Amino acid sequence: MRRTVIQGTGFYVPERIVTNDELAGMIDTSDEWIRERTGIVERRWVEEGVTGAEMALRATSMALDEAGMEAGEIDAIILATLSPDHFFPGTGVFLQRELGAGEIPALDIRAQCSGFVYGLSVADAWIRSGQYETILLVGVEIQSTGLDLTDEGRDMAVLFGDGAGAAVLKAADDLQRGVLSTHIHSQGEHAEVLWVDAPSSPRHPLISAEDLAEGRHHPRMVGREVFKHAVSRMPEVVLEALEANGLGTEDIDLLIPHQANLRISQMVQRRLDLPDEKVFNNIERYGNTTAATIPIALAEAVRAGRLHRGDLLCLTAFGSGFTWGSALIRW
Ligand code: UT7
Repeated sequence: MRRTVIQGTGFYVPERIVTNDELAGMIDTSDEWIRERTGIVERRWVEEGVTGAEMALRATSMALDEAGMEAGEIDAIILATLSPDHFFPGTGVFLQRELGAGEIPALDIRAQCSGFVYGLSVADAWIRSGQYETILLVGVEIQSTGLDLTDEGRDMAVLFGDGAGAAVLKAADDLQRGVLSTHIHSQGEHAEVLWVDAPSSPRHPLISAEDLAEGRHHPRMVGREVFKHAVSRMPEVVLEALEANGLGTEDIDLLIPHQANLRISQMVQRRLDLPDEKVFNNIERYGNTTAATIPIALAEAVRAGRLHRGDLLCLTAFGSGFTWGSALIRW
């Protein structure tokens, strides 16, 4: 019996800060509306030419430094993204190439905002089964280039940002520490509530001039539907995890919820009856970076001294698919 411990964390966000006021100069929105409805003050957008693999590499370097490890010690890469650098191959192999990590497997995970928790679930199973000792888990997203920066896309345009977060996971025989459990779910009947319609392989051709003119290549969302499901599924899956481990909400020392909207995180916090000091949010600075929100927040929480040995850390996510999940980790 062995467990998965988080040996190192890291993150990278682009230097370019995009404020709410800057967005208000492009689309019909305002700083006041964005702050009030989402809690977001600013987000980061990549400069042209920067790839997801490059951002993932920077986050990984920080995580390896913290772990005191070299790239050559990694046995496998799991990379979560909904905005891959290319249709194929996955961004994971580009990261493998940039890392110089040897001929290790690189698996891309497509579970949108829940990608990091899904990836953790796979990594934990690999490690506990004895297949791998050390796994690099990354969430990376370039959302800015896909956004519809017209008034029609304003609901999405104000929410999303770019960034990367990484965690180096390692096998440990210390059963007092590490991942206690992961719980993941999906409900495909809501697939089109938050999605990108095209390019789409069954189309002939996979993207047409009409698709582009109609903006089908931009993400679309029925925001209220997503909101409604997010605020019930995240508490539900956290309670599922606690119950499976014979624990209660009072045992949680730190909750890192997916950073989708500050109002969503606050509602999840209320439903779990957690005080402010037990919840970590950074959406005001980065917006929603999808698969990267949790690993970026985790890396920041570590650096802010918010986690101590023995603490019970809870991660939870909800996103397009719908997909959702939770993880409980004894720090
Ligand atoms: O990671 C998971 C993925 N995404 C999410 O979790 C997002 C979930 N949804 C949300 O966060 C919220 O639904 C939004 C922030 C997207 C929208 O907030 P809301 O309070 O649900 O607003 P709404 O969609 O009900 O729209 C209210 C009004 C509408 O105008 P009318 O019809 O009342 O005149 C919208 O057209 O706000 C308008 N609106 C905007 N106004 C200014 C929508 N987007 C904007 C905007 N700026 N950016």
